[in-house]
Amino acid sequence: MTVKAEARARLNFSTDWTYAPAPESASHAQIKPRYDLFINGKFVAPAKGEYFDTINPSNEKKLAEVGQGTGEDVDKAVRAARSAYDKVWSKMPAKERGKYIYRIARMLQERAREFAVIESMDGGKAIRESRDVDVPLAAAHFFYYAGWADKLEYAFPGKQPTALGVAGQIIPWNFPLLMAAWKLAPALATGNTVVLKPAETTPLTALKLAELIQEAELPPGVVNILTGAGETGAAIVNHPDIDKIAFTGSTEVGKIIQKSLASSRKKFTLELGGKAANIIFDDAPIDQAVEGIINGIFFNQGHVCCAGSRLFVQESCYDEVVRKLKDRMETLIVGDPLDKNTDIGAINSKMQLEKIHEYLKIGADDGAEQWCTSCNVPEKGYFCRPTLFLNCSQSHRIVQEEIFGPVLAVQTFRTVEEAIEKANNTPYGLSGGVWTDKGSKIFKVTSKLRAGVIWANTYNKFDPTSPFGGYKESGVGREGGLHGLLPYLNLN
Ligand code: NAI
Ligand code: MG
Repeated sequence: MTVKAEARARLNFSTDWTYAPAPESASHAQIKPRYDLFINGKFVAPAKGEYFDTINPSNEKKLAEVGQGTGEDVDKAVRAARSAYDKVWSKMPAKERGKYIYRIARMLQERAREFAVIESMDGGKAIRESRDVDVPLAAAHFFYYAGWADKLEYAFPGKQPTALGVAGQIIPWNFPLLMAAWKLAPALATGNTVVLKPAETTPLTALKLAELIQEAELPPGVVNILTGAGETGAAIVNHPDIDKIAFTGSTEVGKIIQKSLASSRKKFTLELGGKAANIIFDDAPIDQAVEGIINGIFFNQGHVCCAGSRLFVQESCYDEVVRKLKDRMETLIVGDPLDKNTDIGAINSKMQLEKIHEYLKIGADDGAEQWCTSCNVPEKGYFCRPTLFLNCSQSHRIVQEEIFGPVLAVQTFRTVEEAIEKANNTPYGLSGGVWTDKGSKIFKVTSKLRAGVIWANTYNKFDPTSPFGGYKESGVGREGGLHGLLPYLNLN
């Protein structure tokens, strides 16, 4: 009997049923064949006239081509941002600035469906997530920070907060629109102007946001959005007239950025990688915990910096947890990101899929026990079955390194101290999760875990009011909440 058939028999599923397809319509999603760079309130051709393709990773079809921004384009955008800052944005009453941000938030809500569909097409994430998580949270960030715009002196009593000037922002492909919102909303609310670069595999929702910003009649130059790859990002980082850099992406690039900023006056925040521990004690509500673990690592194909990619299970409940985990994993649907039943969409790019495959091999070669679900995956496109590695040890590379895919490394522990020690044995420190019935244990463990965000009896919950950021190699600085205003301000 196959693993799936065995699980179905045990769960009393009489037939091997599947859901009928339920695809979200893409007919209302308007994607132009070509997008220019958004500089000084207009879409303008890139200086060198070069474009590159963005594809749909679920079928490998081209969606559009977008401008290749060069140093020259970055310079033009920075000059537009500086001029908008000097002449308009810094002179505008804060309450008026706030109104523009509210307008962006409302317009985003009105077009939520189109943004969700395009996000799923360009990046591969399941529509359930882009519709229920990415887009609503992006709007929530604009609403939240719009509210702060004219209340900054209440956020920092006794101080006189002033804007820095021009912010350069570089974002990744795992939450393209949401990361744009995380970056833009606090920068605008604090009175800065912006040059933002989305990731090369997922530029479309940022460009749709540029269209929306144009329609919202934001003064030209306040927000500039340039597409391009690493070189375009580096040109932003190294531009002498930028006052602050905000980056989210790999630890590797974060280190390069930190080095190039070392001798400059620029402020910076870096949100980098993670290798979060999810810890289950035997007194936890096991079914709820299993659901949380699934959400923690398979949500968004595991393309989440705070994904719960390491699981620590107390020995006494190990068999039960692993059995329930496998059963639940067997029910996960991998496939068309636009299908409303899909749990796990497409891996974002061929490169990322190859990286995940490499780690699957490393895990097996290092001696961990590999188990993956038996579901069908589409032949075309970049897909990966949810995978467990059991009997892992601390030294395994799949335990130490960020994979950024639907791969969970499982280990056991006996005591609270052992769980804490193992969980902290990582170069990262972005997030973590604790599952137990005892409040005192939650406090004991969470106070000793060296990670920026820790969830108790839940996982991957986000809210614009709460700060987010890492320890150690997971980054520098905080975004979100009141803390997220600080990196964009001088306090006098
Ligand atoms: P990346 O760090 O290269 O890309 C993130 C952004 O930085 C993109 O917009 C990219 O164009 C830009 N960039 C690249 N090189 C740059 C440079 N020298 N200067 C300025 N900007 C630059 O991430 P990549 O290569 O797409 O993914 C590699 C791995 O990084 C993933 O497998 C994953 O482990 C990790 N990652 C972590 C993320 C997080 O949120 N913590 C997000 C994306 C990737
Ligand atoms: Mg794409």
